[in-house]
Amino acid sequence: MNVIICKDKEEMSLKAAALMAARIQAKPDLVLGLATGSTPIETYAKLADLYAQGELDFSQVTTFNLDEYEGLADDDVQSYHYFMETNLFSKVNLPKENIHFPNLDPAHYDQAIAEAGGIDLQLLGLGVNGHIAFIEPGDQLNDFTGLVTLTQQTIHVNSRFFEEEAEVPGRAYSMGIGSIMRAREILLLANGKSKAHAIGQMLNTPTITTQLPVSLIRLHPQATLILDEEAASEIR
Ligand code: GLP
Repeated sequence: MNVIICKDKEEMSLKAAALMAARIQAKPDLVLGLATGSTPIETYAKLADLYAQGELDFSQVTTFNLDEYEGLADDDVQSYHYFMETNLFSKVNLPKENIHFPNLDPAHYDQAIAEAGGIDLQLLGLGVNGHIAFIEPGDQLNDFTGLVTLTQQTIHVNSRFFEEEAEVPGRAYSMGIGSIMRAREILLLANGKSKAHAIGQMLNTPTITTQLPVSLIRLHPQATLILDEEAASEIR
């Protein structure tokens, strides 16, 4: 596992966008797994800038998003569809038919990924409790995509994007741990103090546990973590 520590979020985003851009340039029909949340916003902005400058072409790229809340319309401002449209899709030439979200047909999402050739590069953020996508800590994790129940902590943390906590959907469609681990390459981004504990837990001991879903990423043969100094501050 490659761990890159940057001085701040700006540097993290620059490095992440550069890695993603290099993969698209090397393989124009790249299959990209995409993440939402505040973490990748600047990374997406930089990819959009590269497109605007004529350095990137998304016309053959296929995307599979990690997750989506249950029960939100695609144009709901809190939906991950809306997030992706605003932060990336509306700014680049990615064909609509190449974009996939797990809420439409969750039972066949992993099959659709396989039929697209598998995910070449999966971008991940990190929940403060160590979740990736909406794979919450638990005694067991799902291999495949499905409907999952969010923990109270995640509902609370994610309520910052909603007017009140009661508005946060209690369930979401999420890729499974296998959906993520089958990607050929993983790029995980984490910035800020709130992620330091989970990153420390992931890297300070060789323990892998479903109680810290991100720890499973240690098993991936081609994983890169790009962190800012705050997120890396509890690594010993
Ligand atoms: C949500 C998403 C995750 C994301 C996490 C971190 O729970 N389901 O995919 O990684 O939030 O969000 P942020 O980047 O805003 O800290």
